[in-house]
Amino acid sequence: MIYQTPDAIDFRLSDVPSIPPPQRVLLTTPTHFDVQYVINPHMAEHVGSVDTDTAHDQWTALRDTYADLGVDPEILEGAEDLPDMVFCANQTLPYYDPRNDEKGVVLSRMHAAERQQEVPHYREHFESMGYTVHTLPEEAGDFEGMGDAIWHPGRYLLWGGYGFRTGLDAYRHVADLLNVRVIALELDDPDFYHLDTCFSVLNARSVLIYPGVFDDKSRALIDHFFNTVVEAPEQEARDLFACNAHCPDGTHVLIQDGCDTTIKRLEDAGFTPIPVETSEFLKAGGSVFCMKQMIW
Ligand code: ARG
Repeated sequence: MIYQTPDAIDFRLSDVPSIPPPQRVLLTTPTHFDVQYVINPHMAEHVGSVDTDTAHDQWTALRDTYADLGVDPEILEGAEDLPDMVFCANQTLPYYDPRNDEKGVVLSRMHAAERQQEVPHYREHFESMGYTVHTLPEEAGDFEGMGDAIWHPGRYLLWGGYGFRTGLDAYRHVADLLNVRVIALELDDPDFYHLDTCFSVLNARSVLIYPGVFDDKSRALIDHFFNTVVEAPEQEARDLFACNAHCPDGTHVLIQDGCDTTIKRLEDAGFTPIPVETSEFLKAGGSVFCMKQMIW
């Protein structure tokens, strides 16, 4: 079932099966990371401008930050000629189905032709780990994994952004395939081309958003399910990817350094922000949330 308006909501969060938090994080090395083409507005001025050594250092620091928080990093090697492969949130949607204790992934059907060859690397990786791997049929259209499809913390409920990289049809297929409810949020500002650029779940009752993206229906859906909605100001959201922050444990929030107002608001809401530097990856239109994949 796909929900697009608050009036359509016919269930409570407590009716939704609970799921355990994913305990591990998949990271892909930035070995071949670069900006070589433009598939989002952030990349436009940065073709050829990535400092490889700095990118490597920033990625290593991010990996170490996860390890320090007790989230086990699992590493996949980035492949040649796939400069965006480091953004490992996009090629799959990992899931844990509490009703049959199954863990698996749904493979993406990348909108961006430049990124389609990333998917087989992730297929191979998850197959070798013994996960159930699903391929969506062609008629499902575009689907960019956890760039757009985000689990509600602790519940078998999916938030689905659509408009740029993922279409509504994909969620119809995902909803059927996984037997899951999907709350669909429309995106229409090209700077915020994935849901994870403007919406970051923090815990079961809290979310960080950039409110400028969401129309009244979407905002009402967000307010319906979250008690605490932390808002990032426009400049931090647009230029520093404040809402591409990631809260791996319900408390700590890894967020691009310099998002001072957002950091203050997160602290006021009881969270512990951990500023990290992802400036090289911002050139490609990504930050923390895109650079990791939480898995069961
Ligand atoms: N250059 C990549 C793209 O446009 C960046 C992806 C960032 N990932 C994300 N989940 N927002 O696809």
